[in-house]
Amino acid sequence: MMQENTGLSLRGNKLATNPARVDFEIFLEASQNIYNPTDNPDGAFPLNVAENHLTASIIKDQLTSIIQQKNVPDWVLGYTDLLGHPDVRIQVARFMEQHLCKCPISHETIGLSAGASAIIEVSSFILANPGDVVVIPAPSYPMYTNDLGLKSGMIRYDLQTHYDLHEIGSKAPVNIELLDKTWDELKAAGKCFKVLLITSPDNPTGCMYAERELRKLAEWCMQHKVHMIVNEIYGLSLIDTEGALHKMNYSDEGTYTSFAKIMHVANSDYLHLWYAFSKDFAMSGLRVGVVHSLNKAFIKGYGNANVPHLVSNITQWMIGELLKDDDFIEQYIIENKIRLNQSYQLVIKTLNKLEVPYIPSRGSFFIWADFSKYLQENTDQSEEQLWLDIYKNTGVLLTPGIGFQHQKNGLFRIVFTAVSFTHLEVAMNRMSDYLLGRKISIKNS
Ligand SMILES: Cc1ncc(COP(=O)(O)O)c(C=O)c1O
Repeated sequence: MMQENTGLSLRGNKLATNPARVDFEIFLEASQNIYNPTDNPDGAFPLNVAENHLTASIIKDQLTSIIQQKNVPDWVLGYTDLLGHPDVRIQVARFMEQHLCKCPISHETIGLSAGASAIIEVSSFILANPGDVVVIPAPSYPMYTNDLGLKSGMIRYDLQTHYDLHEIGSKAPVNIELLDKTWDELKAAGKCFKVLLITSPDNPTGCMYAERELRKLAEWCMQHKVHMIVNEIYGLSLIDTEGALHKMNYSDEGTYTSFAKIMHVANSDYLHLWYAFSKDFAMSGLRVGVVHSLNKAFIKGYGNANVPHLVSNITQWMIGELLKDDDFIEQYIIENKIRLNQSYQLVIKTLNKLEVPYIPSRGSFFIWADFSKYLQENTDQSEEQLWLDIYKNTGVLLTPGIGFQHQKNGLFRIVFTAVSFTHLEVAMNRMSDYLLGRKISIKNS
C-alpha cells in the first residue's frame, strides 16, 4: 500500500506508525476500568506498567506538607544550572552517598534530567556515534531501544545468556566469556562495541550483580575502552533474600552493591551510573533522573545537551526539600521494602501453586515468569493469545514478553507493585483459578 504523504521526515513517519510500547492502548483501557470491590468488582488489574502504588500515598502526603509549610525560593522562577540547581544536586548527592551508593559522591559529578528516559537519551547522545553498539543482556526493558537509539543512532544488541530460566537461576547472567565472544563477533562484523549496559536490580528479571561481578565487568570494559553503565533505578527496591520463605530460592547470596563504589575506586572515564526517583520513590510522574560520572568532559557535554530535558525548577525544589528530611527518607525506605516484600511473596506463592517457573527476584518490581506450558503452540501468535486470554478472562494484564528480546515464547512480566496488596490478592486468585482450569482443558482437548 502507498504511504500517505504526511510531510514528515522518515524518522517522523516511522514514529507515527510504530507505538512506543505494544501494550499501552490496552493498559489505558484497563486503567479506565480498575477493579474496586464495591464499585467495580469485575474490573481490571493492570500489572504491566512499572509503577509503585504501594507507597504512593506516603510520598503524596509528604509532598503536600512541603508545599503547605515552605516558601518557594526565588530561583524557582528563573533559568538555572544546566545540570540542575547546585543546592538540589548537593541534596541528591548526599542522598546517594547515604542511602543508594554508600560511598562519597560529589554534586559536581551528577546531572539531573526529566526522568531516567531523558538521562538514557542524553547519555547515549554524548557517548555514542551513529551505528555504535550498546550490548544489553536479554531479556531487558523494551523502551531501551528508543531511549538509547532514537537521537544518538546507537544500535541495541541483545546478548542472549540463557533460554530456560533454570539455566541462570538467580545468578547475574553476564560474564567475561560472553563479553569476549560478543567483542569478537561485533569486531568481525565491523561494528564498534561502545557501551555495556547493565540494569541492577534488573528489569524484568530482578537479577542483581554482586560487587565482585561488577568489578570484573568494569575491568573488562576499561581494558577494552567500552563505556559501562549501570542503571540502578530499582536500587532501593530490594527483596529480602534471607527470609525463611525465600532462602531456598537463591543459589548465590549477595547483598546489593552500588556501582558507584567501584567507580569511586577506579576513577575511570569509562564508568557511569543512572538513577531516578520514579520507582523507589513512587514518583514516575515527577520526572527526576540522575546521571553520575567521574568523566569531566562527559558531565560538561551532558549539561550542554540537557537544555530540552531539564527538570522543572519547582520539581527540583520539591525533591531537594524531600531529601533534606533524613528521618523521613530512612523510614520511607524501610516501609517501602516491607510492602514490596509482602506483595512479592504473594505472587511467588501463586506461581509455586501453578508450578510456573520464575526467576527469584533480588530487587525491582518484577517477577519474570515462564507460562509456556499454557501455550497452544510455540509461536509469537500463541503467546499473544495467551496474554490476551488471561486479560479477557481475569482482568489481569501482564506485560507481554514481546520487546524484551528473550528467545523463548510464553514468558511474561508481572509488576507486583502496580496495585495494592489486597487487590493483588484478588488478581492472583483470579489468575490462578483461570490457569488451573485452562491447563485441564488443554489436557482434555
Ligand atoms: C530499567 C528502566 N530504566 C528506565 C526507566 C524509565 O524511567 P523514567 O520513568 O524515570 O523515565 C524504566 C521504567 O520503567 C526502567 O524500568
